[in-house]
Amino acid sequence: MELNPPLVIASGVGGMGEYLKLIDPKYIGAYTLKTVTLFPKQGNPPPRLFATESYLINNIGLENIGIDAFIENLNANQYEELFEKVKVIFSLGGDNPEEYKLVAQKIATYEKYFEAIEVNFSCPNVKNGGLNILSDLFSFKEVLIYLRKVLKGFLIAKVGVEGNFVENVAQIVKDHGWNGIVLINTIRGLEVVEGKLIKGGISGPVLKPIALRAVYEVKNKVPELYVIGSGGITNEKDVDDFFKVGANAISLGTAIYKNPQIVEKIAKYIRRCCE
Ligand SMILES: Cc1cc2nc3c(=O)[nH]c(=O)nc-3n(C[C@H](O)[C@H](O)[C@H](O)COP(=O)(O)O)c2cc1C
Repeated sequence: MELNPPLVIASGVGGMGEYLKLIDPKYIGAYTLKTVTLFPKQGNPPPRLFATESYLINNIGLENIGIDAFIENLNANQYEELFEKVKVIFSLGGDNPEEYKLVAQKIATYEKYFEAIEVNFSCPNVKNGGLNILSDLFSFKEVLIYLRKVLKGFLIAKVGVEGNFVENVAQIVKDHGWNGIVLINTIRGLEVVEGKLIKGGISGPVLKPIALRAVYEVKNKVPELYVIGSGGITNEKDVDDFFKVGANAISLGTAIYKNPQIVEKIAKYIRRCCE
């Protein structure tokens, strides 16, 4: 996968392309869509977000319209402008192995629209799927095998650091013929707000050293995998650090909420420092 710049909009944060209203597409290497699951999800009841300077906790719960409605929109050319302007990565999710397989079958016909298909094996905010699959290596491998058969293009696993050691997971991903990995998704956290518990995924600056270590370990063990570094990237030094430990591209998530212009700033920095 060739991205120029090697800068990706993280899944979930950029919705279904909405940030193109605020960011010039020439600064975006690829735009990852919010994870789409087999059935529509309304997401979790509020409170869903809690933010500080150093982290965000979200408990959105993979709210999305479901694969059938997504394909209807695709056929109605609703994402045409997005495809014209940027490379798009589809994010695939499910509640169990069967659902991952069915979503893959449904999106397979439309693979040509996407630069890559990313599979979310790591959402901490749904009861099933996500982290559960990663902690059950039998189911995980079953999904890897099936999806590799059905999908012909660039295939990326998005994983976190919970469930299993990330470098071991990366080895399995590579051994099943997949092309890349996103390191890392959010990590389970908890915050008490006015007496109410928000159990959600932690993102933002606090995640950076953990994500950096994950990239380092994976690149040492499985250097062939294309690695997208994701977790707390907010400035030029963060970008340097991820490239230093071997990331092939970096991803911006929580930082975009605070300031969408960060994408332009980081893209210009990457182009300058890599030229
Ligand atoms: C509000 C929110 C929603 C997210 N939704 C998704 C999602 O649908 N699918 C996914 O794979 N990751 C999702 N993520 C995880 C991000 O893509 C990213 O991997 C993570 O936030 C770490 O990067 P960051 O610290 O730059 O935000 C979400 C993150 C946030 C903050």
